[in-house]
Amino acid sequence: MYNILVLGSGGREHAIAWSIYNDKRINKLFCAPGNAGTISISENIDLNIMNNDDIYLFVKQNNIDLIIVGPEQPLENGIVDFFEEKNIKIFGPSQYASQLETSKLFARNMMEKYNIPQPAFFECTSEEEILSVKGKLGLPLVLKADGLAAGKGVIICNNDNDLHNAIDDMINNRKFGRASAKVSVEECLRGEELSVFAICDGENYKIINSAQDHKRAYDNDKGPNTGGMGAYSPTPLFTDNLRKKVEEKILKPILDAMKNESYPFKGFLYVGLMIDEEEPYVIEFNVRLGDPEAQVLLPLIKSSVLDMIIASIDGNIENHTIELDSNYAVTVVLSAKGYPEKYNKGMKIKGLNNIQDKIVFHAGTKLENNDFLTNGGRVLNVVGIDENLKQSIFKAYELANIIDFKDKYFRSDIGMKAFKYLEEKE
Ligand code: AMP
Ligand code: GLY
Repeated sequence: MYNILVLGSGGREHAIAWSIYNDKRINKLFCAPGNAGTISISENIDLNIMNNDDIYLFVKQNNIDLIIVGPEQPLENGIVDFFEEKNIKIFGPSQYASQLETSKLFARNMMEKYNIPQPAFFECTSEEEILSVKGKLGLPLVLKADGLAAGKGVIICNNDNDLHNAIDDMINNRKFGRASAKVSVEECLRGEELSVFAICDGENYKIINSAQDHKRAYDNDKGPNTGGMGAYSPTPLFTDNLRKKVEEKILKPILDAMKNESYPFKGFLYVGLMIDEEEPYVIEFNVRLGDPEAQVLLPLIKSSVLDMIIASIDGNIENHTIELDSNYAVTVVLSAKGYPEKYNKGMKIKGLNNIQDKIVFHAGTKLENNDFLTNGGRVLNVVGIDENLKQSIFKAYELANIIDFKDKYFRSDIGMKAFKYLEEKE
């Protein structure tokens, strides 16, 4: 029997806890800090997930046998190394291996060394260096802060004005703090974006599924970048042919590279890709599941998610089979108007009792005097599942309309771009 601790408080972590809580082998399930959704399937614990000593105290007192890390910050903080040293099972990559996400230039240099397809890039630390890259690559250019910047560290510069503003933000005014002490200045890729998710054990990997996120705040990919306003999985853009290329040109080489460099990669690997004329190029790696992508990936896994995680920790992914549902899943993020900038919190959420057996993952929510209240910019993730993509979109939007709170805002076009690819295939 397992006592399990899930770390994080977003929709992704609610989805992770939900995907395992019915497992008969679980004795107690905890989420730290969790949200108003995780309360109904686990016990929420008020822990600072960046404080390894505090987590260790809790782990010891509650005989935790397995820790599952949701977000990237504790991984960057070395939580996996910390608990592995103490012989406590923990799922995720080491601090060094996490650099695939936490240092964009570490990832770019690794890909260059091992010939993994990616845009041309230059490592820059000054305005002069960046301007000299403009001389070589021309415009548009992409400026990417080397370190973690909460999804905001990428600026696409279409003209000189954009470029000067981006240089001011990253270099002169240090808007991103230490994260932009180094900047990856990159060729701007064109094409269609998709993400591929794999689970790795240091040696081998299994692809879980593909997905497409909707990063911009407004319909038709307009407005500011957000953490993600909705996602669907799988995407018809991920053809068998593309899958082969992603495995041969990206997944196998990056796992071999990390092993070769003495830091084998374990955990979820999120491969952000640009597809140009059927060729994949790596935009970025993340070392965790996406949020909101986890909310569509996990409900489509028919086999045991707990076994999959344990296979990764035990170095046994090769012998693990992931069984998928043949359905589509779509999630629409219900956000508070104003997100990702200024928004209100504390609004009462109505309609959560009318959803029967439908899937609604909580993100920024809290429970106060038996009322669900909004407690963040991304509030809830409604999920629609169906063998037909149109129906799964319809089901997600049905739920989006049942649930209500003041200032509720959501995009109305989640999943729609898939139809373009379906038509192209026919
Ligand atoms: P990231 O934070 O790395 O996911 O970047 C955010 C978004 O910026 C991506 O989803 C892409 O749309 C875009 N992006 C990042 N790097 C590039 C690139 N080299 N070329 C084109 N678009 C990019
Ligand atoms: N949805 C994008 C991410 O999790 O990075």
